[in-house]
Amino acid sequence: MIKEKTDFLIIGSGVAGLRAAIEAAPHGSVTVVTKDIPTESSTEYAQGGIAVALSDEDTVGIHYEDTLNAGDGLCREEAVRLLVEEGPERIIELISWGAEFDKEGTKLAFGLEAAHSRKRILHSQGDATGKELERVLIQKVRSVPNIKREAFSQAIDLISEGGTCCGAIIARDRRPVAMLARSTVLATGGTGQIYARTTNPQVATGDGMALAYRAGAVLEDMEFVQFHPTALYLPSAPHFLLSEALRGEGGLLRNVRGELFMKNYHKQAELAARDIVSRAILHEIQKTGSDHVYLDLRHLGDEFVKKRFPRIYSTCRRYDLDITRELIPVSPAAHYMMGGVKTDVEGRTNLRGLYAAGEVACTGVHGANRLASNSLLEGLVYGKRAGGSAHKYALPEADLHKIEDALDFRPLPHSIPAHDEIRGDLRRLMWQKVGIIRNKESLEEAVEGISKWDYILEKTFLSRRELELKNMIQVAGLIARAALLRKESIGAHYRSDFPHKSEDWKKHLAFKRGEAPFTEG
Ligand code: FAD
Ligand code: SIN
Repeated sequence: MIKEKTDFLIIGSGVAGLRAAIEAAPHGSVTVVTKDIPTESSTEYAQGGIAVALSDEDTVGIHYEDTLNAGDGLCREEAVRLLVEEGPERIIELISWGAEFDKEGTKLAFGLEAAHSRKRILHSQGDATGKELERVLIQKVRSVPNIKREAFSQAIDLISEGGTCCGAIIARDRRPVAMLARSTVLATGGTGQIYARTTNPQVATGDGMALAYRAGAVLEDMEFVQFHPTALYLPSAPHFLLSEALRGEGGLLRNVRGELFMKNYHKQAELAARDIVSRAILHEIQKTGSDHVYLDLRHLGDEFVKKRFPRIYSTCRRYDLDITRELIPVSPAAHYMMGGVKTDVEGRTNLRGLYAAGEVACTGVHGANRLASNSLLEGLVYGKRAGGSAHKYALPEADLHKIEDALDFRPLPHSIPAHDEIRGDLRRLMWQKVGIIRNKESLEEAVEGISKWDYILEKTFLSRRELELKNMIQVAGLIARAALLRKESIGAHYRSDFPHKSEDWKKHLAFKRGEAPFTEG
């Protein structure tokens, strides 16, 4: 097997990975591997924007409170404090690197999204904020010496021994390469693809969480999956996101009878928290015997909608839908993973040499439900922190030598017959049984159904689709088990058989390979 060395290995090139790479680069060689083209990531598709307490009417204290409220009591307060306090500095830095956010006159323009008590969402080109972040960060990465980028290179497994991680096995042109590293940063994003309906791009298959779990890292809060209330619902179209910012600007939800309904569910109506709006939509869908509701922007005016949401307008036009004149059919879709690889506020996992940042990580910043537009900020703040730790706590070369000699990775030429069918079955099972509303029966069916594919977890693959399927099965199993174990409703986790919080709700469920699930405070 080919063996290569780098000081810092970063897996993933979204906001978290790129920001980590920039931080680590002055201290040694950095290799950023990514399994698709460099920009393919959730970051690239982020629409609404990036939350930051920079407006005259806002303070970091109010941003902190809003984040804790959205998290429904389960946020780790120190992690939130650092997010909101360091956020403004990270944004000003990004602007100094060339990021352009929309302005009103000479001042930055701030949008509103659900559960924010102030207008605090910076956006770019209306609804293309993530694209602007990727553009600026990639440009910065290119300008920094020491950073090597490898596209179409997928991390298969971590190289680990005795609680220490020394890099990863990478599939490069379907050949395994052992990439030894003094620090390894997971920045592989989320898990949306394990659901039949998702706003997430194809790359979001939970790889980082699965790799970390197999290597002995602790995963936490896996039951908390955020569903976005409004994804496009057209038979031939993808589940394209219709940003919450549309409702922030006055967009309304109507059922198929044309009735407004959100005021019947919550006093904040269209701007209630995402889990409340998603469940309200499901209820209206059931009540009216339909499969969608409508988002109505017709009263906002043609010019305003086209100018404020150019990407959403033009994407819907491609599907023959004029959002300025027609009702938009929408339904919820899996959107964001609050749980993930447990880290401290420095991005450190329980494995020496392994760090995680961004959606793959669970710093506890989002608790049981993420405040909208906090994740891009998290990527910047905790990407930088993880990159800094990668340097500060880098393993001595001796650790790499020890493991290098013992390295042996010989994948058998495995292949799973009909793996795309299994993928479809898994995604449907998760949507139907571990979706917005869960209960004991549905979750037990899911756990049992997923365990039928356990044989796939024992195999090693080199093809992207099969590797992804293996990781999806691994992560789906953990989500279903966590959801079954948490016998209560809290944040985004809603159990119809336990609609309220239990007495000992203030705990985090954790999983470590080879051990029984455990709880932490
Ligand atoms: P990503 O940006 O997803 O990057 C992950 C990277 O890892 C990719 O480069 C991927 O190719 C790579 N990768 C994955 N597995 C492997 C592997 N095995 N080997 C090598 N590389 C791998 N959040 C906000 O704050 N504001 C918004 O407006 C917003 N809008 C959103 C809109 C959409 C449609 C979506 C899907 C999400 C949105 N979010 C938003 C959430 C936010 O975009 C993500 O949480 C955030 O971008 C995640 O960043 P990341 O760097 O952790 O991961
Ligand atoms: C959106 O624009 O609605 C997505 C924002 C987010 O997920 O934070």
